[in-house]
Amino acid sequence: MIIAGNWKMNCDSRQAIKLVNEIIKSNDIPIEANIMIFPPSILIPVIFPLIKNTKIKLGAQDCSLNDNGAYTGQISSDMILDAGCEYVILGHSERRSMCKETSSDVSLKSFKAISKGLNVIICIGESLKEREDNSFLSILETQLSSSLPQSIGSQIEVSDFQITIAYEPIWAIGSGKVATNENIEEVHKFIKNCLNDYFENSIKIPVIYGGSVNANNSSQILKLNSVDGVLVGGASLKSDDFIKIAKNSL
Ligand code: PGA
Repeated sequence: MIIAGNWKMNCDSRQAIKLVNEIIKSNDIPIEANIMIFPPSILIPVIFPLIKNTKIKLGAQDCSLNDNGAYTGQISSDMILDAGCEYVILGHSERRSMCKETSSDVSLKSFKAISKGLNVIICIGESLKEREDNSFLSILETQLSSSLPQSIGSQIEVSDFQITIAYEPIWAIGSGKVATNENIEEVHKFIKNCLNDYFENSIKIPVIYGGSVNANNSSQILKLNSVDGVLVGGASLKSDDFIKIAKNSL
């Protein structure tokens, strides 16, 4: 089970060190839990020395679709790898809405990140309006197919677990409104079917849920058959809650 903490734009270095040390020292995290943390990129070099001899994996919250050059404020896949990360989150709904990132940007970024050797977590999710007018499955299908790694004229070999899909309904993110078990099962099964159609050789692509996951609701969510883990925002900033979520993955 993947238990991924997306810290977003939170923590200074002192808080980050405290949070990571509390997670590392916990005896409650099951050995099977695949713990990943995604701090703000400026904190990655602070955290890497702490986690490098542990099972915790480190990732960035975004990457550039370019290799290097005049791209003020961006960081490349090579830089992310060089800093000790194995993962990158792409297409989070906050980047899609606030930075106007499109699925085609996400697709190019995921192509670049994978070809450099990073594993990607590609986020997709519908708005409240799309849920209410019942267009959400077709919206998600389009988002998924157009965010997967593609580059004009190039093919990419993808291996097991190199791509993870995070289903994060926008209306459930940071709102305290969690999707119901039925909502989650329906969408996760749908995503898995779409993925089976896209990748003929049926590579393993985990599908994880995100949106107001906390210490209380996580045990139910993690028990669902189609759920391979969770992407946790707010609750990943409190070590007790994050550890409890990991414990609930057993
Ligand atoms: P949340 O965020 O857990 O605070 O709802 C999840 C996410 O945006 O990844």
